[in-house]
Amino acid sequence: MNSTELPGHPHIAYRDNALFVEDVRVSDLARDHGTPLFVYSTASMREALAAYQRGFAGRKLHICYAMKANSSLAMLQFFARQGCGFDIVSGGELERVLAAGGEAGKVIFSGVGKTRAEMRQALQAGILCFNVESEAELEVLSEVATALGKRAPVSIRVNPNVDPKTHPYISTGLKGNKFGVAHERTLATYQRAAALPGLQVVGIDFHIGSQITEVSPYLDATDRLLDLIELIEAAGIPIHHIDFGGGLGINYNGDTPPAADALWQQLFAKLDARGFGDRQFMIEPGRSLVGNAGLCATEVLYLKPGEEKNFCIVDAAMNDLPRPAMYQAYHAIVPLQPRTGSPAQEYDVVGPVCESGDWIGRDRSLAVQQGDQLAVLSAGAYCMAMSSNYNTRGRAAEVLVDGGQAHLIRTRETAADTFRNEHLLP
Ligand code: LLP
Repeated sequence: MNSTELPGHPHIAYRDNALFVEDVRVSDLARDHGTPLFVYSTASMREALAAYQRGFAGRKLHICYAMKANSSLAMLQFFARQGCGFDIVSGGELERVLAAGGEAGKVIFSGVGKTRAEMRQALQAGILCFNVESEAELEVLSEVATALGKRAPVSIRVNPNVDPKTHPYISTGLKGNKFGVAHERTLATYQRAAALPGLQVVGIDFHIGSQITEVSPYLDATDRLLDLIELIEAAGIPIHHIDFGGGLGINYNGDTPPAADALWQQLFAKLDARGFGDRQFMIEPGRSLVGNAGLCATEVLYLKPGEEKNFCIVDAAMNDLPRPAMYQAYHAIVPLQPRTGSPAQEYDVVGPVCESGDWIGRDRSLAVQQGDQLAVLSAGAYCMAMSSNYNTRGRAAEVLVDGGQAHLIRTRETAADTFRNEHLLP
């Protein structure tokens, strides 16, 4: 058998001219479950996780999967079974973790706008740590914890003011961002946290952005963080764990992010040199664990030649794959069954939603005909999790492949599902 893996997409390969995820032919899944259909590779996720584990070999590490990237229950269950905890940003995400069999004691809670109800819920569940993002939040968290007779474990998110060199919407560690406590205010904020009755200082964290493809922003942010830890500990406040957030990028369009183990080799050179190598570490990766493990299979509904552009209209749309419309993001698009010998043409690949912004790929060279099936690649992260019911389109189905087995992990939503919670007037 002739097998060609797609570069940067481990376990996604053409075998005898048909696209496979591990040992399962994607067109078989599309036939059984319809399109649009998300398909994920377990082996790819396992390998992505293993790269982090190699990078931290011999160190004290707790991995909290940033579940906002893909929070489908079976995906969470997979990571829980691998021993991971979770980085959550809402009470709803905490409920998902528990529903998937995850442990509250391995959960960290990030986000700038936690409500009192969410704080209570997380305290009662017994989460590992609150990653606090402002001085005002500290005061409220202490009040809520005191009222419950508890002390909330806290880490303070520092904004190190480094440029992650990524899309402005997903860069979070610059002065102008809403995230974290300014570098200059950090010591004072820790002193306040240590003085509040309902809090227990346990850590420090940063998260500088997402889809980062260079090592230097991490190195710069780490230097700043270590300076701060020295300052805080000199003031008599011990820091038990250091959390480096997530953000490592993936290959969408020839991007060349460092591998997780290579990144951590460089970071440990710094951490060891500065005497921090034996600390308890935490990380919050999302995209780099699931992004290139997934694709979205879609069918070509119509080809529409035009004077300026040719359109390839597919059954997946911006409600399924919002990243191109939101961030002008690039996702590679490949056929499930390449047509040998037929000439390629340039198309804008677009969905059925009634908006000009509903595009999935622009100026793509494709040899396609009506009824063909395509795969939108790098669709494991921030696609299903950000999908919507716009135009009363039910959310797509999802399949998790493991070797030759395909598990349906989400049934396609019906129209009735989408209006289940709505009420007619009396
Ligand atoms: N930790 C915190 C506090 C975060 O805010 C994020 C992502 C992560 C961890 C995980 O970052 P990752 O490893 O996935 O880069 N919807 C955008 C991405 C938004 C990321 C938000 N925060 C996109 O589709 O590109």
